[in-house]
Parts: sequence; C-alpha cells; structure tokens
Amino acid sequence: MKIGIIGAGNIGATLTRRLRALGHEVSVANSRGPETLQALADETGARAVTAREAAAAGEIVVLTIPQARVPDLPGDLFAGVPADVVVVDTGNYYPRQRDGRIEGIEQGAAESRWVSNQIGRPVIKAFNNIYADHLMKMGREPGALDRIALPVAGDDPNAKAAVLKLVAELGFDGVDAGTLDESWKQQPGSPVYCTDGSLERVQQGLLDAQRERKPEWRGTEHSPGTFDQPR
Ligand SMILES: NC(=O)c1ccc[n+]([C@@H]2O[C@H](COP(=O)([O-])OP(=O)(O)OC[C@H]3O[C@@H](n4cnc5c(N)ncnc54)[C@H](OP(=O)(O)O)[C@@H]3O)[C@@H](O)[C@H]2O)c1
Repeated sequence: MKIGIIGAGNIGATLTRRLRALGHEVSVANSRGPETLQALADETGARAVTAREAAAAGEIVVLTIPQARVPDLPGDLFAGVPADVVVVDTGNYYPRQRDGRIEGIEQGAAESRWVSNQIGRPVIKAFNNIYADHLMKMGREPGALDRIALPVAGDDPNAKAAVLKLVAELGFDGVDAGTLDESWKQQPGSPVYCTDGSLERVQQGLLDAQRERKPEWRGTEHSPGTFDQPR
C-alpha cells in the first residue's frame, strides 16, 4: 500500500519503520524538508519528501504533528488529493505542556474534529493512544495474551475499515470506536489513553469514558509551559 506520513517525530518515524518493515511504500515528511530526513530514508527505504508530496503520495496519509502546528500546514495541502484517500490523525491536545490553548477544543470540539476542520478533510483518529515505543515493540500475533487493542474512530466506514486493517497488520486488535465526534472517548485522560488495554478492556474503557474535559487537560491563560513544567 502507498502511505504518506506527515510528521517524522516519535510517531511518524515509528510508523515509517514499522510500515516499511511490512513492505508498504512510505513517503515521509517533516517541516524542515526532505534533506533532513535522509538518515530515516536510508535506514528504512522510505522516500523523504515534502509535506505536499506526502499528502499526494498515499492511499492512506497519516498526519502526526503536534496539535498547535496543524494551523501551519498549507491551507490547500489536500487540494487535488482524491476523496477516497484516507487521512489518519494521531494527534493529542497537550495545552499545558506543548500546544497552548486552542479555543475550538476548549469549547468542546473533539480534538480530531478540530483537526479535520483545520485541514478541510475528514479524518480517522487512530494511533493517538499508544506510546511510540510500544507501537514499535508491542505488536503481537492475533490471539496473543498480551495483544494490545487500539481504538479507531471516524465517520466513513470504508476509511475506518482500511485503518482497522492496518492496525491489525501492525499487530494490534482494532476496535471501532464510533464517529469522529465521539472520538473524545480515546483522548488524553480517557480510560483507553496509553493504558495498553486488551480488546475487552478497550471496549469497556470506551463505554466508561466521560465527556467532560478534566482540568489537567485544559489550557490556562499561561499555557503552554513544558512537559517538565506544565502551565
Ligand atoms: N510521542 C508519542 O508517544 C505519541 C503517542 C501517540 C500520539 N502522539 C501524538 O501524535 C502527534 C505527533 O507526536 P510526536 O511525539 O511524534 O511528535 P514529535 O516527536 O514532536 O514530532 C513532530 C513532527 O511533526 C513535524 N511537523 C511539525 N509541524 C509540521 C508541519 N507544519 N509540516 C510538516 N511536519 C511538521 C516535525 O517536523 P520538524 O521536526 O521538521 O519540525 C516532526 O517531525 C502529537 O499530536 C502527539 O501528541 C504522540
């Protein structure tokens, strides 16, 4: 499968490595330009490209950049990209540590709904609730006792099915977590957030999730601080 990846940090580089190892054709981009991604390209056999090229290179395009950087993307990034190309958002809102206050999210939009509105494209939310290191190392065969389940949310059933298939290829049980507007159930602070749950635990965690954003996941007038000193 042809896969574009926009963002080559913890998650983007991990997905590049794992998806290349599975034999997918990966085109990966960051903000500084392809020449800064040569080492990752040499290591994995991925193509280092611009963000525009990554957006146009895939049957699936993964957007994996900090939430606060989403408005920096070109407004026409996906212009001309066919509607059946699936865009995956791995993002999480860390207002106090990294992103600063984002009013649309503070007012109640699901984080990936806000991203979708920003980029003018439907998205599927996936891979947001697992640490990059676990995404790298903890894929398992179906039926393994320690197999982790990952929620996948979005509105288009075909797009969601394509991402659930990719999740399974990577060694995780995919769980249909509902629509994009319900994707708050897998956001930071939810029971399924970075807890490496089994299929049953993730299904139950999605049922137990509470909509209200907890104070520690809200921005303040002083946000952002840092991961060491959130504000
Ligand atoms: N870290 C985790 O374990 C983890 C787990 C699940 C989900 N997430 C979420 O996934 C997202 C990415 O996290 P991360 O930890 O991988 O981030 P990261 O390590 O900070 O990497 C961010 C990447 O995004 C690129 N980027 C930023 N602005 C861009 C732009 N305008 N155009 C193209 N590329 C751009 C950066 O490129 P440059 O370096 O060139 O600026 C960098 O390659 C975040 O929302 C995060 O909360 C993270």
